[in-house]
Amino acid sequence: MTNEYQSAHFRELDALHHLHPFTNHKVLRGDGARVIVRGDGPYIWDSEGNRVLDGMSGLWTANIGHSSKELAEAAYEQMLELPYYNTFFRTTHPPVALLSRKLAEIAPEPLNQVFFGSSGSESNDTAIRLIRHYWVLKGEPKRRIIISRKNAYHGSTIAAGSMGGMVHVHAHSYPPYEGFRHIMDPYWYGEAEEGESPEAFGLRAARALEDEILSVGPENVAAFAAEPVQGAGGVKIAPASYWPEVQRIIDKYAILLLADEVITGFGRLGSWFASEHYGIRPNIITFAKAVTSGYLPLSGIIIDDKIAGALTEHDDDFHHGYTFSGHPVACAVASKNLEIIERERLVPRVREYGGPALAELLAKFADHPLVGEVRSVGLLGAIELVADKRTRRRFAEPGRVGMICRDHFFREGFIMRAVFDTMVTAPPLIWTDTQFDEAERVIRRALDLTLEDVAGEVAA
Ligand SMILES: Cc1ncc(COP(=O)(O)O)c(C=O)c1O
Repeated sequence: MTNEYQSAHFRELDALHHLHPFTNHKVLRGDGARVIVRGDGPYIWDSEGNRVLDGMSGLWTANIGHSSKELAEAAYEQMLELPYYNTFFRTTHPPVALLSRKLAEIAPEPLNQVFFGSSGSESNDTAIRLIRHYWVLKGEPKRRIIISRKNAYHGSTIAAGSMGGMVHVHAHSYPPYEGFRHIMDPYWYGEAEEGESPEAFGLRAARALEDEILSVGPENVAAFAAEPVQGAGGVKIAPASYWPEVQRIIDKYAILLLADEVITGFGRLGSWFASEHYGIRPNIITFAKAVTSGYLPLSGIIIDDKIAGALTEHDDDFHHGYTFSGHPVACAVASKNLEIIERERLVPRVREYGGPALAELLAKFADHPLVGEVRSVGLLGAIELVADKRTRRRFAEPGRVGMICRDHFFREGFIMRAVFDTMVTAPPLIWTDTQFDEAERVIRRALDLTLEDVAGEVAA
């Protein structure tokens, strides 16, 4: 643990030399960053010795919790044995072969082949290139357009950022790459018309895909790409009618489905992958984050036999790869992480305990004057903060109240992320009653303090 002097020292070094992701650097330069020094299970500690309950699993990563000795040992042993070798030039190694087989086993059939990278963005870039390559191999090179959704987050590289639907991300690579179209996201609370039921809205949002396919011409469409639950966009959970209708449209036009499971993979919804939860049949799943519970960077795509078959029938290279594709230490840690998830029954535990406990926790705040809606699926949840809960009117300046609330959470020793004025949570899969009770106390207090701060703006 560091002392106060060291905290100031690290903050200063950081402010002078470190550029943070997705950060207002002017504000950060003034305020400095919080220095995090340690993690243990569901908690992290800052350099001033404050213990914080981690309601975001790091960044949707630490499904088994922080600082597992077993994962550290797996990394240590692999580093002594073979710290690095590449998987180019027809070489392989045991950790990558074993992990590939395990991922094929837990992924829905018929997804059986894995290509590795180090980040979610890279996995989506890989998927984009492979989707287009696939259609060339099939003799339909015109099929290049990938339809995605507004507010989707698929990463920060130029291709993944262009496939994503966040306008502020597009703005930095303006103009974004061509070949992507963005349809409405299935966000009932924010987008439904007055009196529109979730079911009717879900069908309308799904049919936006068919409208887009017809508008660009089915012969030009390569794939539809989507997160089963939009995470960084605000934990937007589609109504039950949405995914079956999307799958029907995909089947009708025989386009590919890319499920970005970078957040939803590895148990978060109570199944290994959310695709099973929603009964969808992706041709490609992209994964990252919780495959190692975030202990080391590792990502990849799992592809179905149809796409793999096109590659193996074709006598030429797929010109794509990363130095760290299938890094042996990351693969060894991932295998151990999946073993722990299996051994501790963490996936069924989300269905039987964690998911219902989170839903019950959030429901306790539905009556709060600041709260417009609470929603959750598995261990993904959200609280909508609104100025008028009867009319769903938002606050005048989007994001200001969310930030006030987030800061209260921080000060009270809890991490929940603000997506504008939507507070989102993704607890580790290991939470027990102790953490859910703690979260209840902190959330209530933070909401009350936020309400005091903005009372004049909230409808009585
Ligand atoms: C659904 C989804 N896809 C892709 C990414 C990008 O992953 P990375 O930050 O590892 O590049 C993220 C990151 O949060 C994500 O949530």
